[in-house]
Amino acid sequence: MKPKIHLIVGARPNYIKANPVYYSLNQLNKFEIKLVNTGQHYDENMSKIFIHELGMKKPDINLEVGSGSHGEQTGKILSLYEKVLVEDQPNMIIVFGDVNSTIACSLAAAKLGVPIGHVESGLRSFDWNMPEEINRVLTDKLSTFLFTTSPEAKENLMNEGIAEKNIHFVGNTMIDSLIEFQNKFDKSEIRKELNLEHDYALITMHRPSNVDNGKNLIKLIRSIQKSSEIIPCVFPIHPRTKKKLQSSKLYDELNNNKQINLTDPIGYIDFMCLQKNARIIMTDSGGIQEESTFFGVPCITVRENTERPITVSLGTNKLIGTEYERIPGEITAELKNNSNKHSIPSLWDGKSSDRISKIIESYFYPNIRN
Ligand code: UD1
Ligand code: UDP
Repeated sequence: MKPKIHLIVGARPNYIKANPVYYSLNQLNKFEIKLVNTGQHYDENMSKIFIHELGMKKPDINLEVGSGSHGEQTGKILSLYEKVLVEDQPNMIIVFGDVNSTIACSLAAAKLGVPIGHVESGLRSFDWNMPEEINRVLTDKLSTFLFTTSPEAKENLMNEGIAEKNIHFVGNTMIDSLIEFQNKFDKSEIRKELNLEHDYALITMHRPSNVDNGKNLIKLIRSIQKSSEIIPCVFPIHPRTKKKLQSSKLYDELNNNKQINLTDPIGYIDFMCLQKNARIIMTDSGGIQEESTFFGVPCITVRENTERPITVSLGTNKLIGTEYERIPGEITAELKNNSNKHSIPSLWDGKSSDRISKIIESYFYPNIRN
């Protein structure tokens, strides 16, 4: 019988990170692989569209947890996934990133003694107010295989007492997807459809620290409105942000602004086309800091810290903090700056999933030489 592995997805970025790992493991033909979808994200354009566009295996198990408070959502996944583990008896689970689905499934597996592989391990913002930081630190503590995207992650993990032998620098599986699908980005018609065949800024915002606090949200939106006088903007809006804006009536204001193209969340291929061709990006997303670094597109990150410092030291990312009134000035400065010096971090080369698969293969089949 082949060893059985569960891959856990649930939130938008998970699909993009998990898909190449699935295909890479699957082609070894040595594992029974099941995709478990927690249902943390459930809108068509936050979940199914990724399965469809990435040509992903349909989930074998759907927990359908939906939204809730942190405790409610994490607890629901934990108890539902525990039942799945007991019934299905996987030999290993692989979790991705830092979302509630990641920690919930890890906790269920750890308590039952099932080994965990954590993809994107060791990232640290050192900001305990971020729900993701809690999820990262705890997931790493529970994991047997810690797959990292950048060298500083190893240092972070070793500082927390994680054994060096469990840490594997493999690169970035999100970039595996980017590289695999990049020839499709140029074929997308989205810029024509949205009338964006000129310079534009791409905006995404969804961190609770930026959008959940009413005062911050108003300041942020006022700065976006000012920025749109400098350069036209496209703003695919995350459901969390949309709800907050609608409850404060800022949504209609943004929607009526002719310089801001407000859209629902966009599918992967179209979104990546928008990202690749943007003159500048303004975001608080983790993944977008990395993808913009790969594309070499200037990125302004509206946060006080980043768990992805390599995108600042090597890439195109600039951390500007949350003094929102600074945003228009930063955009003007960036538009004048044509140097755009950057490089792509080591091992962000499209082969990270293959490195992960080899490590897992040699764990289950120790006598095979890679
Ligand atoms: C989650 C992750 C965050 C990640 C982001 C990716 C946690 C703690 N947070 O944040 O790290 O960057 O996903 O996008 O796991 N909603 C919908 N439809 C959906 C999904 C969500 O309407 O399909 C709304 C609900 O009102 C929900 C809110 O968005 O309460 C927030 O969703 P949730 O998954 O809790 O957190 P995100 O902000 O999406
Ligand atoms: N993304 C997308 N459509 C969108 C916004 C994002 O396809 O409208 C993709 C993009 O590749 C991004 C990834 O989803 O890197 C992760 O998104 P998000 O910002 O929601 O999560 P984070 O990386 O902050 O956890």
